Amino acid sequence: MLKGKTAIITGAGRGIGRAITLALAGRGADIVVNDIDMGPARSVAEEIAACGGRAMAVKVDVTDEAAVNDMVAAAVVRFGKVDILVNNAGVVQTGPLTGISPAAWDKVMAVNLKAVFLCCKAVFPLMMDHRGGRIINIASVAGKRGGGLLGNSCYAASKGGVIAFTKGVAREGGPYNITANAITPALTDTDMTGGLTPAQRETIIQMMPLGRAGRPEDIAAAVCFFASDDAAFVTGTVLNVDGGLTMD
Ligand SMILES: NC(=O)c1ccc[n+]([C@@H]2O[C@H](COP(=O)([O-])OP(=O)(O)OC[C@H]3O[C@@H](n4cnc5c(N)ncnc54)[C@H](O)[C@@H]3O)[C@@H](O)[C@H]2O)c1
Repeated sequence: MLKGKTAIITGAGRGIGRAITLALAGRGADIVVNDIDMGPARSVAEEIAACGGRAMAVKVDVTDEAAVNDMVAAAVVRFGKVDILVNNAGVVQTGPLTGISPAAWDKVMAVNLKAVFLCCKAVFPLMMDHRGGRIINIASVAGKRGGGLLGNSCYAASKGGVIAFTKGVAREGGPYNITANAITPALTDTDMTGGLTPAQRETIIQMMPLGRAGRPEDIAAAVCFFASDDAAFVTGTVLNVDGGLTMD
């Protein structure tokens, strides 16, 4: 149970972020529902409130350092502290290396990697003061496999960066009882993967021993584990939630 804990989830308006948010709220956490898109974030916050939970929707672009700091400050004003940070917001890029513009590279790196750094940096002093915290980063199997149908080399680099960054944060956070772990989903049914053709989808599913695409709830369950007391001694870990695709 996460009663009395406060969680910030980025990119929480839809897809995997929404499922994570509802799962953490269902376990009793107070929630900051972040998204760059306010409409969906507000609906998720309203859904939580309708079930008796406490949530605030915050429209912030997580690549904007000042806005991220304001979001964390607002969380403290409303809920008193931040115990859990889930860096979930992300964008995908597909297509060949020769087609990637430097601007597209910068955008992917900003949302998928720099924003993870900014959000961790903003909550770290609070967690250090409280002598505890849970940071959970949503990476991707692309960060281990180099992309493929689930993103290109640029996306893979950003997610590989998230994996390395998570381990660095785990090392720095350890003395303060702050854990940092990453989750690497494979194909998961959300808007992000809605553009795959049926044939591309089937190709990926055939590589997965469990023979189906992931559901946002599959990823949310792993987040709940990392946020729970059961994961108190788990840090610097990268958990594949990928139907067996990777097996490394
Ligand atoms: N769906 C998959 O197959 C899959 C696989 C591996 C990893 N992932 C990762 O899981 C995470 C969630 O993916 P999803 O499939 O739910 O994607 P999605 O596109 O359905 O949702 C992403 C959410 O992030 C928000 N967002 C984007 N940029 C933002 C910004 N700058 N600031 C704040 N919010 C922003 C979007 O508005 C959206 O609500 C991403 O990091 C993604 O890379 C997804």
